[in-house]
This record gives sequence, C-alpha cells and structure tokens, in this order.
Amino acid sequence: MSKNIPFQRAADAPPLPTGTVKFIVYCLAGFRGWLMLMLVLETGQAAGGILVPYAIKAIMDGVMHVSGETSVLESLRGPLLLLAGLNIAEILFSRASGAVLIIVGPRLRQSTTKALYAYLQYHAPRYFGGHFAGALAHRISETAISVNHTTWSVLCDFWPILVTFAVSVALLFNVHQGLGLMVAGWVLVYVSLSYFLATRCQPYAQGYAATRSMVNGKIVDAVTNILNAKLFARLRFEREYLDGFLETEVKAGRRTFWYMERVRWFQFIAAATLKVGTVYYALTLWDGGLIGVGDFTMSVGLALLIINDARNLTRRFLEFFEYVGNVANGVETIVQPHEIVDAPDALPLKISQGRIEFRNVCFAYEPNQPVFDGLNVVIEPGQRVGLVGYSGSGKSTFVSLMLRNYQPQSGQILIDGMDIGQVLQDSLHEQVSLIPQDPSLFHRSLKENIGYGRLGADDTAIQTAARMANADEFIQAIPEGYDSLVGERGVKLSGGQRQRIAIARVMLKDAPILILDEATSSLDSVTELTIQDNLDRVMGRKTVIAIAHRMSTIAHLDRILVFDQGRIVEDGGHEQLLAQQGVYYRLWTMQAGGFLPERAESEDS
Ligand SMILES: Nc1ncnc2c1ncn2[C@@H]1O[C@H](COP(=O)(O)OP(=O)(O)OP(=O)(O)O)[C@@H](O)[C@H]1O
Ligand SMILES: [Mg+2]
Repeated sequence: MSKNIPFQRAADAPPLPTGTVKFIVYCLAGFRGWLMLMLVLETGQAAGGILVPYAIKAIMDGVMHVSGETSVLESLRGPLLLLAGLNIAEILFSRASGAVLIIVGPRLRQSTTKALYAYLQYHAPRYFGGHFAGALAHRISETAISVNHTTWSVLCDFWPILVTFAVSVALLFNVHQGLGLMVAGWVLVYVSLSYFLATRCQPYAQGYAATRSMVNGKIVDAVTNILNAKLFARLRFEREYLDGFLETEVKAGRRTFWYMERVRWFQFIAAATLKVGTVYYALTLWDGGLIGVGDFTMSVGLALLIINDARNLTRRFLEFFEYVGNVANGVETIVQPHEIVDAPDALPLKISQGRIEFRNVCFAYEPNQPVFDGLNVVIEPGQRVGLVGYSGSGKSTFVSLMLRNYQPQSGQILIDGMDIGQVLQDSLHEQVSLIPQDPSLFHRSLKENIGYGRLGADDTAIQTAARMANADEFIQAIPEGYDSLVGERGVKLSGGQRQRIAIARVMLKDAPILILDEATSSLDSVTELTIQDNLDRVMGRKTVIAIAHRMSTIAHLDRILVFDQGRIVEDGGHEQLLAQQGVYYRLWTMQAGGFLPERAESEDS
C-alpha cells in the first residue's frame, strides 16, 4: 500500500494510536487513578527506606549525648519510634503497592488484549494472507504483557530509584555540601553510563532474541512437517539440521552475556568506589570536626542504599528497551490501516431480488498485474450461474470481489442496484452465503459449528440443516454426536465431512444469494448426488453462483460463464456453449473422456 493513503480504520475498531508511547498511554487511560495511587505508594516505600539511615543517625546522635540520669531507651524513644515507624511504613507501602499491582495488572493486560484483538478483526483478507495466524496471536499476547512490564518498570523500578537518589542526595547536602556533591556526581555518571551501556548492549540482546525466535520457528516448521520427515526417514537429518541453528543461538547468547559481564565489572567497581570514597571522605570530615558520628553513619548508610538500588540499573534499562521494543513491534504489526472499511454514510444492503451487476470492474492484486480490466456482467435475480475456466482465470477473484474481500481499483459491483462499496459490510455478509472450497471449522462442537449459520437456532433446526446436507448420519455415528469437537480447523473430520458441515451451516443461514466455490469437490459421486439434490432445493429462488472444476456439477445450471485470463469469453446455457465449440466445449470434452466427444460429434453431424 502506498504511503500517501490516509490512515483509515474501521468505525467499530478501537482508535489505537500508531506511536509506541501514545499506544501505551492509550492502554493506561482507564487506569489513571490506580496508577497515581501506585505512584504515591511507591514514593512512600522509597522514602521509608531512604529515611532509615536518617533514623539511625538520630539514634547515634542520641547515644553520643546520653547522660547518666535517664535510661538509654528512655532518651532514645523518639528516634527508636521513628525507626520502627519507617520500617512499618515501608512494609505497608510496598505491600499496598503489591496489592494495586494485583488488582490492575491482569485487568490492564486484558484490556490491551481486547483492544488489539478488536482492531485485528477488522483487517481485510489480504492482511491475514500476509501474516501467520499463530504469529499474530503471539504478537497480541506479547504486546499486552509488554505494556504491563513497561508500566511497572517506570512505576516500580525507575521512579523509586529516582526518589531514592533525590532524597539521599538532599540528605547528604544537608550534612555537608561536599559529600552531597560527591554522591550526586557519582549518581549522574553512573546513571548515564548505565544507560549508555544498555543502548550498546541492546543490539546484542536483540540479536539473541532473534536467534531464539528463529530456532523456535525452525522447530515449529519441523514439527508441522514431522510426517514428511518420518516418511522420508529424515529424523536424524532434522536433528542435525536443527543443531546448526542451536549453535548460532549459543554463540549469540554468549556474546550478549559476555557483554553484560563486562557491564557488571563496571558496576562492581563503581559501587566499591562509592563505598570506599564515602567512608574515606566522611571520615575526613568527621576527623576535621565538620560532621558528627551520626552524620557519618548516615552517609555510609545512604551510600550503601544507593549502591543497592543502582546495582541492576543497566539490566533494568535493557529490559525496559526490550519491553518497549515489543510494544513497538506489536503496534507496527497490528495497528496498520484497515484496507476495507465501511463508508461513513454506508447504509444496510437490502436484497429483495438478488440482481448482481459488475460494471466496468478493474482489479489487480498487485499493481500492473490486472486480473480484471473493465469486466461487465449482469446476473439476473434467481439465476443460477456456473463459473468455469482454466486455473488462474479469475473465478475465485470474481467471487472474492462480490464478498468485498478486496476492493476493485475502479468500477462498481451492484447488488439490487446498491454499490456494495457503499453498504455496511455486515449487511452484505449476512445476505450472501459462501461455501468455500476448503471450509475450515472452529474447534468447537459440531452443533456450534452448524449453528454458526444462525445464532440462536434450536437443535431441531440444526439437525434439519445437517440432514439436508447429508451430515446427520455421520454425526450420529460419532460417539458424542452433535457435541463432539472437530479439532483445529476441523482436522478430525474428513474433507467431505467438513464440507457437509459447511453446507449445513449455510443452509441454516438461508441467505438470498448463494456462492459455491467447488462446494462438493471433496465428496464421492454418490454423496454428491444426494447433496446436489438438497442443494438444488436450497437454491430455491436464490441467486446462485457456483464455481466448478467438475463440469458435471454445473452443466444443469441456467447459465454458464466461461472465464479466460480475467475475461468472460463465453456466456450461455450448456447446450448452447457446447454448440459453439469454443473453450467450454474443449473443457467439457477433455473432462468427460470418451463419452462426450461422441455426443459433440453427433451434434456436429
Ligand atoms: N491473493 C492473491 N494475491 C495475488 N495474486 C492472486 C491472489 N489470488 C489470486 N491471484 C492471482 O489472480 C489470478 C486469478 O486467480 P483466481 O484465484 O481468481 O483464479 P481461479 O480461476 O479461481 O483459479 P482456480 O481454478 O485454480 O481456483 C491468478 O493469476 C492468481 O495468480
Ligand atoms: Mg479458485
């Protein structure tokens, strides 16, 4: 898609922003109150922790000035209470913050997942053709988790560290300016270096993640094709094939971990410097009578606290980058413009007759490779039309355009005079049924799969539909009958059984326009004959478009359109087209083997 098309999204989809930060802010919008509360609690917890050395200083000062008359405990009552109070406050704040996290975390994840899923639903078939279903599902959950982690990183990691640094530097300034300056300088250098190292390490970490996911993909591919591997006796080959990729993963992992190890060296040395430096400097100050013993203890205590908080900063920055990267990835994959959306003034489609018209339709999947170049055709109400033609001639595309899976570049498709580009898509899909060539089913019960055609249909209606589709018998033969599950996409059924479920589903839907894409291709001739009967009955007065490779299934229809390279080259009834001895005749004779040429010859003579 070209970049100058304005960003359009379906009206029913959530208005997700395309920027990473904006997206995260959007996700958090419903939780502002909770997040503010959490900020307060985290501040309280950090302040509680940082004030402990201050309380200890007060105790030390008290110990120094204790006089003979009162007991130590008596005279230190205030500072001791402060120490106890601070510890209790730290516990309460931190656990309250934990409780908020439990309340908000899963909810936040849920709401992000819901928003992304709702947005994803409105993408056009082209989008789903270009993305693996499993990868999309993985992206959604990954993004939702990462929005959570990003938020907690800021609230529970970075913010408390900031508070700790700020308060301790302020306290130290209070003790002695030089001491404050020294620690402030250390913090500044340490944080900047940690950030810098994290950015340097990120490519390694990303590369490692990429190799991990590549190995994952290789395993998925191999497991999917395990039957191939087995039937070609290539199990050992597959193991050795994977070994190569695992080796790459090991190398990438080691590279990342070595880099992190170097960062740890830096951190340990920086921490030791601060510790020794503070002790030495504070000692000198005390020696010079500039600070008291209490101040000395507090300074050392604060230094230890800062070191403790700072220790994992590089790692936290790294994780933070990773989470933000995940969110950016998810947003980039999912929050793309919707290709096909309802027009702002779209009306519901009303089908009273079922007349279909293609008017000057030009369409290409890829630019400059037109499938249709000005296609014109009218299908009258109630007409049953068969589409035939060589593979790749545009039959499925014709049907896809009618269902508005794709948008023609120019021209119109009209149903009962209404341009389908100007009607609500839901109303179009409610009134046009499709039985696809290779129907896929939900991994739900057979009853639910058939009932999908009409929500709220009762058991009798479902069974009737199944009977008409010749499915009732085999369903009854399965132990759990209509309640049995069919496996992913319906793998536990045979192709023909799956197709009959799809037919039953559409019979229940009973829409005025019916499209069959090789609807009976997976059935044996006997079953097909029975269903053809029922299908003919269901067709009733509907407008029907049937694609078929097996010509016999459409020969009896009212009209046949012969497609060749995106053009309709022949149009008429079966006998008429045979008489023309054109493409249709060739297709028919080729397929019918020895039988038809005779007839064609006899017609000739
Ligand atoms: N999703 C797609 N993206 C790009 N090109 C496509 C896509 N689907 C089909 N085409 C191309 O459009 C042309 C028409 O394909 P279409 O599927 O309509 O043929 P068909 O008549 O249904 O063939 P078949 O009888 O094999 O089902 C073909 O050249 C095909 O390669
Ligand atoms: Mg096709």
